[in-house]
Amino acid sequence: MAYNLLKGKRGIIFGALNDMSIAWKVAEKAHEEGAIFTLSNTAVAKRFGDIETLCEKTGSQFIAADATNVEELRELFVRSMEILGGKIDFVLHSIGMSLNVRKGLTYDKIKYEYYEKTLDISAVSFHKTLAVARELDAITEEGSVVALSYIAAQRTLYGYNDMADAKSLLESIARSFGYIYGRDKKIRINTISQSPTPTTAGSGVKGFDGLMDFTERMSPLGNATADDCANYCIVMFSDLTKKVTMQNLFHDGGFSSMGMSLKAMSMYNKSLDPDIQIPPDLD
Ligand SMILES: NC(=O)c1ccc[n+]([C@@H]2O[C@H](COP(=O)([O-])OP(=O)(O)OC[C@H]3O[C@@H](n4cnc5c(N)ncnc54)[C@H](O)[C@@H]3O)[C@@H](O)[C@H]2O)c1
Repeated sequence: MAYNLLKGKRGIIFGALNDMSIAWKVAEKAHEEGAIFTLSNTAVAKRFGDIETLCEKTGSQFIAADATNVEELRELFVRSMEILGGKIDFVLHSIGMSLNVRKGLTYDKIKYEYYEKTLDISAVSFHKTLAVARELDAITEEGSVVALSYIAAQRTLYGYNDMADAKSLLESIARSFGYIYGRDKKIRINTISQSPTPTTAGSGVKGFDGLMDFTERMSPLGNATADDCANYCIVMFSDLTKKVTMQNLFHDGGFSSMGMSLKAMSMYNKSLDPDIQIPPDLD
């Protein structure tokens, strides 16, 4: 059911790759809620993903940009304002990638050149996006910007690797720019900390299925899906949240406030076996 929450609003949505992507769901819902927007991703993602289908479905244009490249970001904002006919009301940063995770290198043995890429793609790109938008004065007064984060920014979770450091930085950038943008233009900058979600990026994390099962058992409301996350993003882009800024908003079915649940305890008890050996290669 649509509520016209984004009627007349213009946006830029980064990070839709295929129909599992959180950004894909956000684009579908933003379209249903009356927004117009451009879709952005890398040129490579366009070739391997299914973004054309989403463009057709939502009547949107695709603009290729590597979010680590300031020139390409500048071009993206300029062209988006031309295509959409004015300044931008909302931006979704839904970008993450770690070559250390992809190549299965554990945190104590990461390659630093990959680490720098992880931070640049998954966090510094958010700074670059906000810096470029500010230089161009591209975001409307009372606009809203959301980036997607994960609880590994606060708590250590096996297998999340250098992405945990990236998410900590991402959340800090949201606070630092949140002050500047809020003070000058009443623009909100927040991160949404989402449950584990079976997407291309999510599924790359070591032990992902076990993690999803654990968080499902631990969360009183169960894991939040990509669709649920999209709903939350829409509310954050709408005029209903004008005083929410500089926050990391947990969207995880209650997981972040739990210590132990009956469902998780029952499972743990089942597998209590003094002979279980922990493999030596675990980080
Ligand atoms: N899936 C999860 O479990 C989960 C949980 C919490 C937060 N998140 C976050 O949600 C966001 C979206 O991820 P997703 O799960 O939808 O996976 P996804 O793989 O569908 O999306 C990640 C996107 O990042 C894009 N990207 C990578 N490098 C880029 C670059 N240099 N420039 C521009 N775009 C680039 C990819 O092309 C892809 O579209 C990420 O920030 C991710 O960390 C995911």
